[in-house]
Amino acid sequence: MEPTAKATEAAPAKVNLTLHVTGRRADGYHLLDSLVAFVGISDKVTVAPADRMALAVSGPRAAGVPADARNLVWKAAELLGTPPVAIALEKTLPAAAGIGGGSSDAAAVVRALSRLWDRPLPEARTLLPLGADVPVCLAPQSVRMQGVGEEISPVGGLPPFWILLANPGVEVPTPAVFKALVSRDNPPMDGLPPKEAAACLAWLRAQRNDLEPAALSVEPAIAPVLAALAGQPGCGLTRMSGSGATCFGLFESEVAAAAARASIARAEPGWWLAAGPLL
Ligand code: C5P
Repeated sequence: MEPTAKATEAAPAKVNLTLHVTGRRADGYHLLDSLVAFVGISDKVTVAPADRMALAVSGPRAAGVPADARNLVWKAAELLGTPPVAIALEKTLPAAAGIGGGSSDAAAVVRALSRLWDRPLPEARTLLPLGADVPVCLAPQSVRMQGVGEEISPVGGLPPFWILLANPGVEVPTPAVFKALVSRDNPPMDGLPPKEAAACLAWLRAQRNDLEPAALSVEPAIAPVLAALAGQPGCGLTRMSGSGATCFGLFESEVAAAAARASIARAEPGWWLAAGPLL
């Protein structure tokens, strides 16, 4: 079959609604138990056959993003062993921000290349060499993620929450946060979340992001972000995602999430703020 001329995929933001660190492997990687969800706020990747590999980065968050073989999208294409392609990456999501921007971009390129060349998607766990968060981004949906990121199991959907992401404009390197952990052997998640919204929020509030105290010690600018979200009417849960610095608020309505976004934007014009539905 002739390949289609190009393929485009959205690369949605990943949020860790919970992130429990339950142990550490001999190789230093940490064992996790995390409820991972995706938000309708996305980067965009397009791939098209080309004479040689190329990458162009555009969009409001393109500054500082490598447009060469250092970029995870390029590495993802190499891992797949694709014929040469030109990749266009449109950056909306901030980098090194705990919302899986680079990982989601890499997974989106894998999906796009599979469509372009009419090949089946690879197994998620084969993408682990690209980064612990890449496998979970291959099929963006709410899942429980365990192991170091390679064990992915469905949770059967979550209530239709709206999520407000807030980032104070500081990049937080993930290794530094794991290094600052005080306790590496913590209890796992308390089973799976209930389906009803209020019960789900109560369940989520009783879970944790174990990286939050460590990230706060590395980057104190995260504390006012959590406080700003927590003070918004209708905010049912406030938490940091991944290793930060992005934090999120969960809302039961789009109107409440939009009002919170506008209110924080007025007070903190320098922060990156984006609201969208859970996918
Ligand atoms: O795999 P990734 O490149 O996303 O990981 C970045 C860093 O985060 C690793 O070098 C490691 O220090 C830490 N990490 C970890 N355990 C995980 C995932 C990441 O210790 N499960």
